[in-house]
Amino acid sequence: MNIRSEGPGDEDTIYELTQAAFAPMPYSSGTEGPIIRALRASGDLTLSLVAEEDGVIVGHIAFSPVSIGGMSGSWFGLGPISVRADRQKQGIGKELIREGLTRLKAMGAKGCALIGNPNVYRSSGFEADGQLSYGDLDRKYIQRIIFSGSTPKGELTYSPAFDVTH
Ligand SMILES: CC(C)(COP(=O)(O)OP(=O)(O)OC[C@H]1O[C@@H](n2cnc3c(N)ncnc32)[C@H](O)[C@@H]1OP(=O)(O)O)[C@@H](O)C(=O)NCCC(=O)NCCS
Repeated sequence: MNIRSEGPGDEDTIYELTQAAFAPMPYSSGTEGPIIRALRASGDLTLSLVAEEDGVIVGHIAFSPVSIGGMSGSWFGLGPISVRADRQKQGIGKELIREGLTRLKAMGAKGCALIGNPNVYRSSGFEADGQLSYGDLDRKYIQRIIFSGSTPKGELTYSPAFDVTH
């Protein structure tokens, strides 16, 4: 398996992979594919990595800038992340996360936050300490990994691209 940055021509495959992976999920907004397009269009798709096997894209991960407690700069949000259904639970998601975090660190990021199932992200070093909020969402789902600097506190805010409705 090869992990690389998205290239020209990958956009529709990423869209379809993402829509298909999220479709069965009860927490899906149905807009994860459109969110990636909107991030790309607005310049907020900081990192977009694909996992490729024999030339076929089987996984994708996006990172974009976030603010925490109204402070922006050097923190990024992980997601959406998708692995093709028949290739899930085989370590591809973890590899995408590992490579993404390595690249964020190399860019000088202070950390990365996400909203998701703790059982998926714990082994990649993410923790929920209850200091981050996202509306009234249960804080156990709001996790972060710190690379440098102080422990972030406050409301997590994503790019406006996440508000896209279709
Ligand atoms: C979530 C997703 C990206 C994980 O990718 P993956 O390649 O299946 O994950 P990995 O095999 O690398 O596993 C990473 C960890 O997540 C756990 N995990 C994977 N899928 C899980 C699931 N559905 N429920 C609970 N834990 C899960 C694994 O057991 C593993 O934990 P460990 O390292 O402690 O053993 C993938 O299942 C997916 O595309 N899901 C549909 C879209 C989605 O829900 N995206 C995330 C929204 S928060």
